[in-house]
Amino acid sequence: MRHIMSPLDFTVEELDQLLDLANDIEANPAKYAHACEGKKIATLFYEPSTRTRLSFEAAMLNLGGSVLGFSSADSSSAAKGESVSDTIRIVSCYADICAMRHPKEGAPLVASMKSSIPVINAGDGGHQHPTQTLTDLLTIRSLKGRLDHITIGLCGDLKFGRTVHSLINALVRYPEVTFVLISPEELRIPDYIREDVLRKNNQKFKEVVRLEDALPELDLLYMTRVQKERFFNEEDYVRMKDFYILDKTKMELAKPDMLVLHPLPRVNEISVEVDDDPRAAYFKQVQYGVYVRMALILTLLEVKVC
Ligand code: NCD
Repeated sequence: MRHIMSPLDFTVEELDQLLDLANDIEANPAKYAHACEGKKIATLFYEPSTRTRLSFEAAMLNLGGSVLGFSSADSSSAAKGESVSDTIRIVSCYADICAMRHPKEGAPLVASMKSSIPVINAGDGGHQHPTQTLTDLLTIRSLKGRLDHITIGLCGDLKFGRTVHSLINALVRYPEVTFVLISPEELRIPDYIREDVLRKNNQKFKEVVRLEDALPELDLLYMTRVQKERFFNEEDYVRMKDFYILDKTKMELAKPDMLVLHPLPRVNEISVEVDDDPRAAYFKQVQYGVYVRMALILTLLEVKVC
């Protein structure tokens, strides 16, 4: 039995297979419509979510399975003081696989140690978000045709943004990926990513503050929102929240085939006027999130479809 805590839990070859499977699901959805009949996914969400929870549920429903779960800590026995270790033992009796989101870093890992069903980390605090990364990789590979030889700008809250941490971890394994880390001084990438992931892998990267300076060289721009819920005080959040706003004028500085990605939700960091630009790929990214989660469920449940 296998759990997914980080994108590194898959080898590059396994990731390729998973993305191939997701592309096949996209091309032939009917072939997979009954693949998980009789199986259940539990979505255990101790933190707010729209896309991640609903896309896991849509993924299982598209496979012919069913869903159960909770969408806030308040509506579960966590409110009475139950530990995640106990909760997962209970849920193991009800479901075949589970996706857990939790505000505490490492909570899904703790759950996986007591679980008798596969546990997927659906976001743990400011740490990792592996299924968003699978979504991002599928989007990039499908729309750009490759995951290597790219210059990617990651912009916004690089300190608390778990999607950025997971994506960097995944992309350092492909040749000739250059990272441009665009953030205000206070929201720079954590030291452990800079030293243990980027420097250790001899990765080409630079850190800049101005988005305008970075834009012309990028093949991909990954925008992120400032993570309000991880700030210690409201004042700092208010000062940072509109630091970057991607608009039509800034898009003029970008390459004609640069793609704009965003894990969503968007707040103000991408102006709605950019939505009609053919380079805006963030809504397509959402659809890829369903295909890749279908592929992940099939892989972890070891369901083969011929
Ligand atoms: C992200 C998350 O939860 O980290 N959202 C998502 O799952 N698509 C990004 C965010 O909340 O900013």
